[in-house]
Amino acid sequence: MPGSGQEEPVEQIIVRGGRPLRGAIRVSGSKNSSLAILPACLLVRGKTILRNVPDIRDIRTMTEVLCHTGARVRFLGEDAIEVDATEFSRATAPEELVRRMRASFYVVGPMLARLGSARVAQPGGCDIGARPVDFHIKGLQTLGAEVRTEGGIVIARTDGLRGAHIYLDFPSAGATTHLMTAAVLGIGVTTIENAASEPEVADVAYFLNHVGARISGVGTSTITIHGVSELRTGTEYSIIPDRMEAGTFACAAAITRGDVVLENVVVNHLSPVLAKLSEMGVHCVPSGGDPDRPGQLRVSAPERTRSVDVMALPHPGFPTDMQQPLVALLAVSEGAAMVTDRVFESRFRYVTELDRMGADIQVEGRTAVVRGVERLTGANVAATDLRAGAALIVAALGAHGESIITGVEHIDRGYTHLVGKLQGAGAHINRMDPERPALRLMTG
Ligand code: UD1
Repeated sequence: MPGSGQEEPVEQIIVRGGRPLRGAIRVSGSKNSSLAILPACLLVRGKTILRNVPDIRDIRTMTEVLCHTGARVRFLGEDAIEVDATEFSRATAPEELVRRMRASFYVVGPMLARLGSARVAQPGGCDIGARPVDFHIKGLQTLGAEVRTEGGIVIARTDGLRGAHIYLDFPSAGATTHLMTAAVLGIGVTTIENAASEPEVADVAYFLNHVGARISGVGTSTITIHGVSELRTGTEYSIIPDRMEAGTFACAAAITRGDVVLENVVVNHLSPVLAKLSEMGVHCVPSGGDPDRPGQLRVSAPERTRSVDVMALPHPGFPTDMQQPLVALLAVSEGAAMVTDRVFESRFRYVTELDRMGADIQVEGRTAVVRGVERLTGANVAATDLRAGAALIVAALGAHGESIITGVEHIDRGYTHLVGKLQGAGAHINRMDPERPALRLMTG
């Protein structure tokens, strides 16, 4: 077993697959919304309270970045954070944190808007292909900042950001939220054309409007921002539920032929995912209420699922972050599927791990051909990035026998109490503490 003997102890998640998930699972707040809204709080000269923030590693990293700038951050219970940006005065971010997490780069806009300068390393993050920040830099320049890069550090300054017309070559979620945030306190009107329309982008705009910004066109490909001179302090805002977490649990329910009720789900945010799951024969039934507001979704799969072709595209297309958990489900679905990722160039590295579990997947460039097998078999596998980890968890829950998943730190970046939530739905899943390596799963 890895982690025993002379080897360095590594954290592992151990799954004994094949047990149908049953019961209710509560979905946490959106990682990507929170990671964009937390730095946007720096625009407010005072306190802001955010609710429904997920308890994940990336959020801790972002709060460290904010504290470094002079802002004060307080955790209020498990899912609320207060940011006080009164003392925001330092226009730098620790290089180690920015290299660890791409979203740390989002502090550049607020730094320019309030402090007139920024000095931040070029970001890192999940290794899923080239992820430049050229749209961010070009956009900030268009808004009137001087930006140059020296030795991997982005150095920017401005005498004041001014409204301008920005065209994005690709509807980048990160560039849209970052530039929208930067423009809020600018002088005049900014338009962002070919903007991203993801629910998380809209959530950032709704948050900014909530604190007094004037943003219109939210959820469309043209966003207009009328600059304002000051934002309101002392407000509270609740982050939307995480559609990727909900989608991952839906795939887990389907692969185990289970029956779960997902709580805290905005059904309309999941439309492209639910369309595919329904086509595959998964029953997805929202329980009344407004599909644009948090509610419940029952997901059940009485039979083996059928394969469907999938193309990951910018919203409202199928989300690239759901491609991996869905491929795990396709790996055991009836028939063959072609899965293409048009958003990131190398987001199929994880399939070698699924192949170790008996999957039959061939990758050619941005496309994977997934031929469904009867069942996967438990194996020792490693998560190489966040969503790859999600795919391995889904696959392991549906597999025959025991799987040992390493690379747990990637999964911790984006999933709140994943093991506990799945245990609550009856899964045989455990986390092995490297300090107590004797822990084994119960069978039965
Ligand atoms: C965000 C999400 C990520 C999701 C992705 C696409 C966060 C923290 N992460 O990432 O989970 O998978 O959206 O929905 O919110 N690009 C450039 N230049 C740039 C910016 C992007 O070429 O300056 C390219 C990227 O390489 C990629 C594409 O645009 O091919 C889309 O990336 P983008 O939407 O920006 O993704 P992120 O915001 O990094």
